[in-house]
Amino acid sequence: MTRDIEDEIRDEKNPRPLDEDDIALLKTYGLSPYSAANKKVEKEIKELAKRINDLCGIKESDTGLALPSQWDLVSDKQMMQEEQPLQVARCTKIISPNTEDAKYVINVKQIAKFVVGLGDKVSPTDIEEGMRVGVDRTKYQIQIPLPPKIDPSVTMMTVEEKPDVTYNDVGGCKEQIEKMREVVELPMLHPEKFVKLGIDPPKGVLCYGPPGTGKTLLARAVANRTDACFIRVIGSELVQKYVGEGARMVRELFQMARSKKACIVFFDEVDAIGGARFDDGVGGDNEVQRTMLEIVNQLDGFDARGNIKVLMATNRPDTLDPALLRPGRLDRKVEFGLPDLESRTQIFKIHTRTMNCERDIRFELLARLCPNSTGADIRSVCTEAGMYAIRARRKTVTEKDFLDAVNKVIKGYQKFSATPKYMVYN
Ligand SMILES: Nc1ncnc2c1ncn2[C@@H]1O[C@H](COP(=O)(O)OP(=O)(O)OP(=O)(O)O)[C@@H](O)[C@H]1O
Ligand SMILES: [Mg+2]
Repeated sequence: MTRDIEDEIRDEKNPRPLDEDDIALLKTYGLSPYSAANKKVEKEIKELAKRINDLCGIKESDTGLALPSQWDLVSDKQMMQEEQPLQVARCTKIISPNTEDAKYVINVKQIAKFVVGLGDKVSPTDIEEGMRVGVDRTKYQIQIPLPPKIDPSVTMMTVEEKPDVTYNDVGGCKEQIEKMREVVELPMLHPEKFVKLGIDPPKGVLCYGPPGTGKTLLARAVANRTDACFIRVIGSELVQKYVGEGARMVRELFQMARSKKACIVFFDEVDAIGGARFDDGVGGDNEVQRTMLEIVNQLDGFDARGNIKVLMATNRPDTLDPALLRPGRLDRKVEFGLPDLESRTQIFKIHTRTMNCERDIRFELLARLCPNSTGADIRSVCTEAGMYAIRARRKTVTEKDFLDAVNKVIKGYQKFSATPKYMVYN
């Protein structure tokens, strides 16, 4: 017993060195089950933060932004005040281009012509003959290249926001959608097919048919689907007050279209400008006709037109000028006829999709009750049915409402219907 105690005392006096297992054991004291994992994550976070900081640092030097503490606002302000606005000029000629001492002839409108050099910030490859440039006021050195001048009203025509109409919102018109997609999408997605066969893809499509059959609707669906830039022109927008203005707008329009990678130009209600030429007997020439001829010219593409597709829509195809319609300009003509029974049923379903309707309404019966009516008529029927429901203070639309609406719209408004005139065509 005493021996044991003595041993212990001696052990305490010069203890045994701890071996690795002991150390490992000691290290686990005070650790919770997940602390190893936590440590690891902490380390990772730290590394990540360091990396982010590194990258931010690089970005700062890239953008030239320093820390706010190092900002020198006073001298910056002074510098900005000293900076002068640039003047717009046109570079008309480059003297001895591609050499060290290239000079540029610029034409400042209504002032004079100058031979100047380049500013520090412009490289010689940026400047071409005929380009608009910004020059400073003192030495008239070229400071920046400017984009070509395009009429703001033309720039406004670009459809930036995609319309929310998809192919699913177009009832019937299967064939028309197919034809349209063939012309618009195929050459853009598979240009090689046309190259292999050695044919030029069709340039444009003319959509024609009675009012309210979905021509504009389908064009909007195309605009929604495509990634190409979509430019929408209303025919009447091109009719201008001064001689030559309309034609200039068309030229600028196509110029803008050419500058895009791929572009679809949609002329709606083209009969406003595309009317057949006639002699008005006075001997004066007609501005509208000239605008139309410019379109013809641009369609022929003396300049390579690149990936531009032209869509046109009208409901008076017979009034259009034959020159506009000939193959080679508008190759495809897609007719939008009156929808058949199946299409009408589908259109009913499309327009009632968002309505709060009774269940199992017999849409086919309704479609049968609206012979020879257009998509717009059917839409009107749906709206009227909703009106009946509101009048009766109901929250859902019943089949009876629809039947009443059919009576009102199809029978009652027969006098206004656009169809009889077009029945001849269909
Ligand atoms: N096939 C269809 N499917 C679904 N809705 C249609 C269809 N056709 C027409 N409509 C409805 O009718 C409305 C008018 O159609 P749209 O504007 O396309 O007529 P349009 O053919 O361009 O007529 P216009 O020649 O008078 O310009 C559309 O907003 C749509 O609600
Ligand atoms: Mg239309």
